[in-house]
Amino acid sequence: MNILLLGSGGRESALAWKMKQSKKCGALFIAPGNGGTPQFGENINLNPLDFEKIKDFSENNQIDLIVCGPELPAVNGIWDYFQSHPTIKVVAPSKIAANLEGSKFFAKQFMEKHQIPTASYIQVDAHNIEIGFEWFEKNQPPFVIKADGLAEGKGVVISDSKEDAKATLESFILNQKFGASSQNVVLEEFLEGIEFSIFVYTNGNEYVMLPNAKDYKRRFEGNIGLNTGGMGCISPVPFVDKALLEKVKNQIIEPTIKGLQKDKMPYFGFIYFGLILTKEGPKVIEYNCRLGDPETQVILPRIHSDIIELFERGFENTLSQYQVEISEDFATTVILASDGYPENYVKGFEIKGMENVNESIVFHAGTKLENNLVFTNGGRVMAITSMANSLNEALEKSYQSINQIHYKGKVFRNDIGFEFL
Ligand code: AMP
Ligand code: GLY
Repeated sequence: MNILLLGSGGRESALAWKMKQSKKCGALFIAPGNGGTPQFGENINLNPLDFEKIKDFSENNQIDLIVCGPELPAVNGIWDYFQSHPTIKVVAPSKIAANLEGSKFFAKQFMEKHQIPTASYIQVDAHNIEIGFEWFEKNQPPFVIKADGLAEGKGVVISDSKEDAKATLESFILNQKFGASSQNVVLEEFLEGIEFSIFVYTNGNEYVMLPNAKDYKRRFEGNIGLNTGGMGCISPVPFVDKALLEKVKNQIIEPTIKGLQKDKMPYFGFIYFGLILTKEGPKVIEYNCRLGDPETQVILPRIHSDIIELFERGFENTLSQYQVEISEDFATTVILASDGYPENYVKGFEIKGMENVNESIVFHAGTKLENNLVFTNGGRVMAITSMANSLNEALEKSYQSINQIHYKGKVFRNDIGFEFL
């Protein structure tokens, strides 16, 4: 099977690494890929949002399967685009289903309709902004204020005072802080609890459970500093036991899949449930219509099964008979970033020492390859993944491997997973 993978991050490195291990994998192309993906396939200089060029490339290279890594091609409708090219299968949700990530208001309405536990909310826009101001008067802080559309993970503000909340709402709606993405705003009840993430692969009808994970979003040790795309991750999450998983299945996953069916929203891809364990049980914080980054870098190494077979079974409607084999080992990943990330940083520094890493997998993210040398090319540079039968040992391996890798401005969090040791 010839495959075109869309994306360029650490998630795509892990997807390419995993697909390349499959006997079913023919030619593998990554568009646009990064400095590490040529280990698994051929980087192609194609924009994942340029569907016409993707179609031309796919036809010229006998592509059988397009795997969509990030959310934007899905939100823009890549699955729908290829419906008129039935020889090319696409691993992605349909455009309507991708709204579960692309619009917080859409996701809230979906959860309300299908009785999926989540924070209570109201929706406001320029016409009824006063209702938002009244909501701040009637309720107690903290207030959760969410831009409706995609905002690169920056569209959620948690505000501790009415004044701040009001100013944030004004900046979102009146000053259009995130352009069209913040014309609509969702105001939510603040939920207290511990966060964790659950992943499934679905064809919109059947699903299989994949390993769970917990990521560390804040930049600095002790969960302080700015939010990032994620500075590290562990899998499995130690407090997620069988009983909690059963609740998540019955109260959240199954109603979600049934909701996709009832609302006629085709889905051939991953669902990432961002959850919080509250006193009343698990609730949904957000849906993502893709795998996480860096969650993928701990999820895929724990899956023994063939991922291309998983995709095939999705299309053949034989997912429910499929037993995905998952390792009981712990996987950990620690992100090596560029000093200054998630704000301004300098890139273009040579990265050395990767050949000395024996105990971990190095998944490239913001890197580029030039004359066989690897240079930094982004905020999150690489993810260092390790596996062992204890969390402690896996983390030790990741941190030892990190010492082997050198570049100017190398930074990382040195407390990934420590809360569970
Ligand atoms: P989101 O982009 O929706 O995942 O929100 C980003 C982060 O904000 C989440 O990972 C949570 O830490 C926090 N958050 C979002 N919604 C809530 C909520 N209703 N209550 C408490 N924290 C929240
Ligand atoms: N690590 C969080 C995300 O991928 O959204």
